[in-house]
Amino acid sequence: MTGAATSISVVHTVADLATYLDPVQAGGLTVGFVPTMGALHAGHASLIDTSIASTDLTVVSIFVNPLQFAPGEDLDVYPRDMDGDVALCAAHGAAVVFAPTIDAIYPKGLPLEGISAGQISPGPVAQPLEGRERPTHFVGVAEVITRLFAAVGPCRAFFGEKDFQQLQVVRYLVTDLSMPIEVVGCPTVREPDGLARSSRNFHLNDRERAAAPVLYRALQVAAAAVAEPGWERTTVEATMSTMIQAESAGPLDYAAVVDPLTLRPPENSRPGDELRLLVACRFGKARLIDNLGAVAG
Ligand code: PAJ
Repeated sequence: MTGAATSISVVHTVADLATYLDPVQAGGLTVGFVPTMGALHAGHASLIDTSIASTDLTVVSIFVNPLQFAPGEDLDVYPRDMDGDVALCAAHGAAVVFAPTIDAIYPKGLPLEGISAGQISPGPVAQPLEGRERPTHFVGVAEVITRLFAAVGPCRAFFGEKDFQQLQVVRYLVTDLSMPIEVVGCPTVREPDGLARSSRNFHLNDRERAAAPVLYRALQVAAAAVAEPGWERTTVEATMSTMIQAESAGPLDYAAVVDPLTLRPPENSRPGDELRLLVACRFGKARLIDNLGAVAG
């Protein structure tokens, strides 16, 4: 079997998904899995392309997971375009789109009765940064990812570095629950001016869209700064904050230099150590996040 499919199937239940995946897995072939919330763009497409290139059959899930949105966040206005999404998946060679109903993922309904938030723990890596700003977010991500992985079964799963903390949470989950999943992180796809592709860019007006690339510029300046011997974390973080706040009325949620494994400030950083730089700031209606890898000088 080759990675690219000629036609695409859209299924809505776990049982229907199994009819496509069971024979592939039983035959010893590799399923590639790209979980998404839809409104697909070039960032999602790159995950599909990477899956197609390295697995035998690619399934893309499209499910806007209510549990990972807090009351007052953008669940109601989250962009939806199922026809466009299926067309993009087909054009990139995915074989199956799994677009479950709420009942297929949460058969006992929502809220999860009798289950306290955090029963599936997203782990310590979920605590800082996004975890502090959006305390229930990664609990909801851990819940849906566990259910999606259970539905798909053994697979290679592709996640974007765009959501770097989410990627580390998923790695933690897979290890902690001994899931038969190989997690692959994929580089962030950007607009020509550096703005990371995101379904939320859709909410930016012209002025905000012009300002938003400051996030990537600040990350690049910070990456250069930490590569210099004698760099100081608080100074680099302040540089990023100042640059971003000059372009956005904010609020700026964080501009941080962290250890990529713990997502906490690096301890006793030595030259050559890997670092991660992460920023989150509101531009009008859109809350944008971005990050960049760096090496300590
Ligand atoms: P969503 O925001 O739709 O993103 C789906 C996947 O696409 C994630 O792995 C994300 O990191 C990746 N992605 C988004 N923008 C990208 C870009 N510019 N470059 C590369 N990859 C990019 O993340 C989620 O959905 C949800 O939390 C989900 C994991 C599906 C659980 O509900």
